[in-house]
Amino acid sequence: MSEGARHANSRRQGSRIDPYFDQYAERARGMVASEIRALFAVTARPEIVSLAGGSPYVTALPLDVVGNMIGRLVADRGSVALQYCTAQGDVGLREKICEVMSLEGIRAHPDDVVVTVGSQQALDLITRIFVDPHDVVLAEAPSYVGALSSFAAYQADVVHVAMDDDGLLPEALEDTIQRLTAAGRRIKFLYTVPNYQNPAGVTLAAQRRPRILEICQAAGLLVIEDNPYGLLGFDGEPMRSLRADDAEGVVYLGTFSKTFAPGVRVGWAAAPPAIRDKLVLAAESAVLCHSSFSQLVVAEYLATQPWREQVKDFRELYRQRRDAMLDALAAQMPDGCRWTTPAGGFYVWLELPEGINAKAMLPRAVSSRVAYVPGTGFYADGGGTDHLRLSYCFPPPERIREGVRRLASVIEAEIDLCATFGAMAPSGRTGPETPGPGDL
Ligand SMILES: Cc1ncc(COP(=O)(O)O)c(C=O)c1O
Repeated sequence: MSEGARHANSRRQGSRIDPYFDQYAERARGMVASEIRALFAVTARPEIVSLAGGSPYVTALPLDVVGNMIGRLVADRGSVALQYCTAQGDVGLREKICEVMSLEGIRAHPDDVVVTVGSQQALDLITRIFVDPHDVVLAEAPSYVGALSSFAAYQADVVHVAMDDDGLLPEALEDTIQRLTAAGRRIKFLYTVPNYQNPAGVTLAAQRRPRILEICQAAGLLVIEDNPYGLLGFDGEPMRSLRADDAEGVVYLGTFSKTFAPGVRVGWAAAPPAIRDKLVLAAESAVLCHSSFSQLVVAEYLATQPWREQVKDFRELYRQRRDAMLDALAAQMPDGCRWTTPAGGFYVWLELPEGINAKAMLPRAVSSRVAYVPGTGFYADGGGTDHLRLSYCFPPPERIREGVRRLASVIEAEIDLCATFGAMAPSGRTGPETPGPGDL
């Protein structure tokens, strides 16, 4: 048989839907689309109140002012903005990023910073340079779905560490490290979202932070501190970052997605020098360099616009929406539901009464014109069946109240069903799934 015929033949061993089915790299097998993605297509319909997606409310930006600024930028500096740049990123932007991080106590030099395509690319690059198949990554229980999908793409074994309303539990972290080390497992890093966590909405208490660092230092464990929401706290000053107290042991991930606009896709990693060098090489092989245009737009925005005032406006807007959601939950939710009280960020994490399965309930919720994200997407091990994530960042307060009202009656009906027919069996696949933007 000729080489060409053999190739064609081997292609036919796939399936009719995907002739290349059996030819993907092993790591691509972990990439499965979220089952609920199809449902989310429906949630874009105006009659549905979506409490699912974590899209920032970009319409609150002065869009005409930003538009004019971008026009001027291209006219005045188009030869730079429309050109390639270095893989580490524009130095002017990196200087500004250091100013932004100083609000959380970080003293960094622009050399420490690598600009990335949102913090999602930083997560991908970090995992790419550290994780071999079956290495362990520690992550909170629950954890950010986009991070779990990066870890799955590089075949990491994610082990979840328990949290409570004050974030990661130091004792649980210590026990998990000891147990895994005793079993001969290689742990590569702890991934944590310390502020207004996605999806749980909780914040790592200030008094726990030194202890978490101490435990990781003792175990020689790198910390990946993912902090998209740190400047979006509703009360007082931003929390002090973990990296502020351990620049050698912590890689900090930041983004302008929540404080400016996710459409510019500008995030960053601040890392110790050796890790920084690897990140630059990995970024180069992934994208050559990041968009000069986006970087200069962000640098110009930070240099010429009252961005701190804008962040304050965002905080106030999200605080009102959080209040609308918490008030509605308190007024409407049936007995047996519990939820977190976020002090910032975008999300409430809701625990359903015993026996109710959030994924099985979703189609009925969508029929009742409300959507949420079932908890299983935020676990790599099948956990989260009785939880769901509600976002208050996008819909206005009256829509949030209506959405919670609809959800409460769906849960009530589910409680009745459960009382009549018994607890629902978990439906379908569990574990990390490649998220769509709607799930983030
Ligand atoms: C915890 C967390 N990390 C990272 C990201 C990725 O954000 P981006 O890639 O837009 O910077 C998100 C987005 O929702 C998030 O919630």
